[in-house]
Amino acid sequence: MSDTHAIATNELTKEYLETTAVDQLSLEIEPGAIYGFLGPNGAGKTTTIKMLTGLIRPTSGSGRVGGASITDREALIDHIGYLPESPPIHEELTAREQLEYHGGLRGMEPREIEERIDSLLERLDLAEDADNRIVTYSKGMRQKTGLIQAIMHEPDVVFLDEPTSGLDPRAARTVRAVITELAESGTTVFLSTHLLPVIEHLATEVGILYEGELVEAGAPKELVERMETGEDSTLEDVFLDVTTTDEERSE
Ligand SMILES: Nc1ncnc2c1ncn2[C@@H]1O[C@H](COP(=O)(O)OP(=O)(O)O)[C@@H](O)[C@H]1O
Ligand SMILES: [Mg+2]
Repeated sequence: MSDTHAIATNELTKEYLETTAVDQLSLEIEPGAIYGFLGPNGAGKTTTIKMLTGLIRPTSGSGRVGGASITDREALIDHIGYLPESPPIHEELTAREQLEYHGGLRGMEPREIEERIDSLLERLDLAEDADNRIVTYSKGMRQKTGLIQAIMHEPDVVFLDEPTSGLDPRAARTVRAVITELAESGTTVFLSTHLLPVIEHLATEVGILYEGELVEAGAPKELVERMETGEDSTLEDVFLDVTTTDEERSE
């Protein structure tokens, strides 16, 4: 495991009393990649992201993100941005106030904060609503506010947990475009989703997680080819194929 990778894990494992949520996960992700972390609900995606962002400690195994150990949250925090499934926003603030507050916590200069907020609000079609309180926002607007919060300090690695959930098609397209721009500027994007179309044309690399284990990994196109599921097969076919048990198959 070397620091030339943006993200590297070695047999990363999280056990709870009843379940092994993440089971000996080993990943190596290059800087500037858009890594699509795909798996059905309960596969262990959120648990993995929480370990990679230092929020929960692995039961065993290790990992490095942006050159910092995932168990050293102080060192880690400067390198990462995180959009959780439910963004941590204060309902009573406006988006602008929320983002100013977050920029301050991140140690950004006031001028830098204003510039980044203005350009990102504009980019995500939120500028008109920026001075309304978040309590009035739709799920999609909250999600976009959370995305700005995750990227405004220009981290090396951004973790997005189901980033397009609750977004209408137009907003989802804007978010996908922003993700592509981030990667082009050298940011590594780690994106979890249970929805294939989200990553089929976006991800540069895909890992399929099933019951805590990485069952497939590769470039999206490569995966489809390797599975030989037919000429018109999509990542969805690959996903169904690798996450179907033998019993289900013989039914
Ligand atoms: N705090 C917890 N305590 C016990 N079990 C948990 C906890 N968090 C997650 N799990 C279990 O771990 C598994 C993976 O959950 P999660 O990482 O949330 O999956 P995903 O994000 O892919 O839907 C599930 O079986 C879930 O019930
Ligand atoms: Mg989840």
